[in-house]
Amino acid sequence: MRPKVFVSRVIPDEGLRRVLEACDAEVWPDELPPPRDALLRAIEGCDGVLTLLTDRVDDEFLDRAGPQLKVVSNFAVGFDNIDVAACTKRGIPVGNTPGVLTETTADLAWALLMAAARRLVEGDAYVRAGNWKTWGPMLLMGPDVHGATLGVIGFGRIGQAVARRARGFGMRILYHDPRRVSPQVEAEHGAEYRTLEGILPEADFVTLHVDLRPETRGLINAERLGWMKPTAVLVNTSRGPVVDSMALVDALRDGTIAAAALDVTDPEPLPVDHPLVGMDNCLVVPHIASASRATRGKMAEMAAANLLAGLRGDRLPTPVNPEVYD
Ligand code: DGY
Repeated sequence: MRPKVFVSRVIPDEGLRRVLEACDAEVWPDELPPPRDALLRAIEGCDGVLTLLTDRVDDEFLDRAGPQLKVVSNFAVGFDNIDVAACTKRGIPVGNTPGVLTETTADLAWALLMAAARRLVEGDAYVRAGNWKTWGPMLLMGPDVHGATLGVIGFGRIGQAVARRARGFGMRILYHDPRRVSPQVEAEHGAEYRTLEGILPEADFVTLHVDLRPETRGLINAERLGWMKPTAVLVNTSRGPVVDSMALVDALRDGTIAAAALDVTDPEPLPVDHPLVGMDNCLVVPHIASASRATRGKMAEMAAANLLAGLRGDRLPTPVNPEVYD
């Protein structure tokens, strides 16, 4: 009997092909994620599920799936949509897709930083609106990126990949992370450690690369935005709730900081009438940091490999809860 699985959205070719070849798979065909009721119905009796960050995996989900569920494979490096402890308690391994999206995500963080600094979206809108009448000595000025100070908050794989890009721009690199990296890694990136209180007032650009955990929810709140320079630019490619959205609206409105560039927001998706959407000094893109064709293809292959390994009873190639094997 082929294992029964649910795949909660169409994922790139090769990964999906592997799942379809090996399993009796139902794939949710729509662009929008399955509504909760439909999701819970679809996973009933499944041996494995391939989920996205838009699917909440919690006790209710696991109960509905049933005791035969062998694996939850998440098509993302982040797994804050999953109650990992609940899975571990039931002996269910959870997989994610680390590593393959590091550079692609860093590319997007860098693109956001550059675009916000040099006001690319405003410039494009200006031209499209027919406002370009002459070369303007005061037109759309922004801060220099080269030679500026970059504050990287969360100095894991992606934070370090952004720091590597910053070196090419001659930037001074400061970082904050709950765990200070080794002196060798600091030297490799030319990065200096700072506390949060130390990094925010010094950085011209602040880029966020932390996981969403209880300690990082609302990390960038009104008080901490107040520590930043009035000329500073905030870039978020981590998770939306790391930044207090309404505090950010106030900070952008009253000039506490100069600009923000967001790949992730809270809520997500951001409604079109949300105050952040209408602000000239806030650039928002729809959570696309890993969206290069090659990277999404690799993520699909990894997610398929985790799913199939779990179904066979093998150790997942990239488990987020390896303690499940103890
Ligand atoms: C992730 O993988 O966690 C990203 O947010 C989506 O690729």
